[in-house]
Amino acid sequence: MGSSRSMLFFITLAIIILNLVAPTMAQDDGTCTHEGEYCLKCSDTVPYTAGDKYQENLNSLLSSFSSNTQNNSGFYSSSRGQDSNKVNAIALCRGDLPQDSCQAWLNRSTHILLQNCSTHKEAIIWAERCMVRYSHEVIFGIEQTDPFKRLPSPNPAKNPQQFEVVLTPLLDILSERAAAGDSLKKFAAGHAPVPGGETIYALAQCTPDMDKKNCSTCLNKTILDIGGGMNGGRVLKPSCNLRYEIYSFFDSRAGSLVDIPPPVPPPPAPAPEEAKKKGNTKQTVIIIIVVLVVFVTIFSSICFFFRVRKRRVKLEQDENSEDISLVESLQYDFETIRSATDDFSDANKLGQGGFGAVYKGKLANGRYIAVKRLSKNSEQGDREFKTEVTLVAQLQHRNLVRLLGFCLKAGERILIYEYVPNTSLNHFIFDTTDHAHLDWETRYKIIGGIARGLLYLHEDSRLRIIHRDLKPSNILLDEDMNPKIADFGMARLFMMDQTQGDTQTIVGTYGYMAPEYAIHGRFSVKSDIFSFGVLVLEILSGKRINSFRNRENEEDLLSYAWRNWRDNTVANIMDPKLRTGLGIEMMRCIHIGLLCVQENVASRPSMASVVSMLSSHSVTLSVPSRPAYYLQYNSGSDLTGSDESKNSMHVSRNKNSDFTEPYAR
Ligand SMILES: *[C@@H]1O[C@H](CO)[C@@H](O)[C@H](O)[C@H]1NC(C)=O
Ligand SMILES: *[C@@H]1O[C@H](CO)[C@@H](O)[C@H](O)[C@H]1NC(C)=O
Ligand SMILES: *[C@@H]1O[C@H](CO)[C@@H](O)[C@H](O)[C@H]1NC(C)=O
Ligand SMILES: *[C@@H]1O[C@H](CO)[C@@H](O)[C@H](O)[C@H]1NC(C)=O
Ligand SMILES: *[C@@H]1O[C@H](CO)[C@@H](O)[C@H](O)[C@H]1NC(C)=O
Repeated sequence: MGSSRSMLFFITLAIIILNLVAPTMAQDDGTCTHEGEYCLKCSDTVPYTAGDKYQENLNSLLSSFSSNTQNNSGFYSSSRGQDSNKVNAIALCRGDLPQDSCQAWLNRSTHILLQNCSTHKEAIIWAERCMVRYSHEVIFGIEQTDPFKRLPSPNPAKNPQQFEVVLTPLLDILSERAAAGDSLKKFAAGHAPVPGGETIYALAQCTPDMDKKNCSTCLNKTILDIGGGMNGGRVLKPSCNLRYEIYSFFDSRAGSLVDIPPPVPPPPAPAPEEAKKKGNTKQTVIIIIVVLVVFVTIFSSICFFFRVRKRRVKLEQDENSEDISLVESLQYDFETIRSATDDFSDANKLGQGGFGAVYKGKLANGRYIAVKRLSKNSEQGDREFKTEVTLVAQLQHRNLVRLLGFCLKAGERILIYEYVPNTSLNHFIFDTTDHAHLDWETRYKIIGGIARGLLYLHEDSRLRIIHRDLKPSNILLDEDMNPKIADFGMARLFMMDQTQGDTQTIVGTYGYMAPEYAIHGRFSVKSDIFSFGVLVLEILSGKRINSFRNRENEEDLLSYAWRNWRDNTVANIMDPKLRTGLGIEMMRCIHIGLLCVQENVASRPSMASVVSMLSSHSVTLSVPSRPAYYLQYNSGSDLTGSDESKNSMHVSRNKNSDFTEPYAR
């Protein structure tokens, strides 16, 4: 009897506790740029006046963080000033970030923070890879979970129940590991597979000024805020943060496979065997109580479930319905596309790429589109294809060609892109007639735009996209000569390996491909950096990477640029049309181009550093080492096809199939 009563008590208590816990799904705070690149919150305390001592201290303190090369743990905390002008600040990079990248992220984030929260005495910014906060109050060692920001992925997990069963223990384990870190780093990352589903990649991090207990408390609270059902998400707090995705978004060296202990089976129902030993009447009483308890439990659970659900549904309804309507809004009807392109007429054909022919089309509403009719079929099912298109369509940046939607019909897959009127960079830098249009300002603008587009793909977007086939014909130019990168995310749409690693399938174009990728199939963001470097040198010189091929001394553009750089005859590299006055910007661009094509993969800068090197002349550039040799290909090989496709390829390195197929866009 007594035990039953205490059980009832426990159930009631549990219900009360759960009801208290549930409201932690609080509305979050702070504003974010789209895609959650940056989120910030300026606190509403007494403002400081522009130009006063507080501002001076603040500026010098924050810039000391982004220029501090002493501490390489990615954590900075310090204060500056006296009394009412004292500023305390903390900066934290994601635990897997190398120092140069950390500094570049801090620099940019600090810049945005100071600009957008000017005159606020307290503020915080979370960027995808760092956090910077400052206050006039003491903030060190104090666990602070407010303000906070929740950034759930818009896409639901394939099987939410199974997903949850892995996600929660994974986050628990990582939180525990992070909390056990030292006073320089409290960070843990890892991944675990969902049986029959996705793999979850996750990380947990505290500012290392937290002690173990405060870090653990902060992360425990944060796990409750992460919500359920989605296949990714971030929760950002001043003292700690969590993130999980179904793709690898951190340096794979930072985290390994985490063993998730199998779920504990639910305790057996109150044993009827025990009851048997006792008298008959007692048995009946116990049965009645058990039935009652079960009834009460079920009833309360149902009530509780609906309360929580209601609350969650309310929170997530918008996103879910947005998601479904998003897929719908992306799907085009085949007839619409057929009539827009005049039944894929040759007159409308813009070109033939590796993944299929591209047509110009005009929708009934007058909007022009580019229609890519995919010729190859991936093994991907329609549902996965739709999911991937939805993800790629959400990558929006002014320097990316926008994916507007798709169209599915038996045996046909079609992608619909925004139409970019001015054709590609290929046409502009190498075509002798249009050549003259590209003055230095335009070229500089194009280089900067490509860099920002790539930075977005590599680091700032939610998906980490490696382009793998960056070349002039994939850089389109709009009316104002703004560059737009085309054909990104194709690997996703064709289910190739995503983030980095060795691959069986090489997609790329000779000359633009980094040697480690062309030879070993090893790709990473640094292979895109190599291609970017080649592009920069082509834009500066007006020469194609392979234009030297038929010369006698067989020198390629990279060696040519390198030799002139070393011999201090840099002006020779520049396009003759630009030789009037070799400006500092030109010098820096050549320098950056050479840094990007270095043979040593690790020495190539990250895109974040490239962008900061381009935007600020005060960033000092390291001395480039020798570039990788240009990869000669044997023109007598089995690479066949039209002019453009001669240099492009799509080679399966599978031993069983030695086919080699021309691959051009
Ligand atoms: C900062 O301010 C600019 C201009 O007001 C705005 O476009 C941008 O979205 C703001 N950034 C953030 C992170 O809120
Ligand atoms: C960083 O480096 C400076 C100078 O070496 C040191 O004073 C400071 O304590 C270090 N740590 C942090 C977290 O800033
Ligand atoms: C970013 O770095 C550059 C060069 O080091 C520096 O001039 C600039 O002030 C930095 N910006 C911020 C906001 O720290
Ligand atoms: C933990 O955080 C609380 C504030 O939440 C703070 O008062 C306390 O001093 C912290 N503990 C330690 C050991 O720093
Ligand atoms: C956080 O949660 C874990 C597992 O649920 C638990 O072991 C740990 O004691 C909790 N930490 C704190 C500080 O409550």
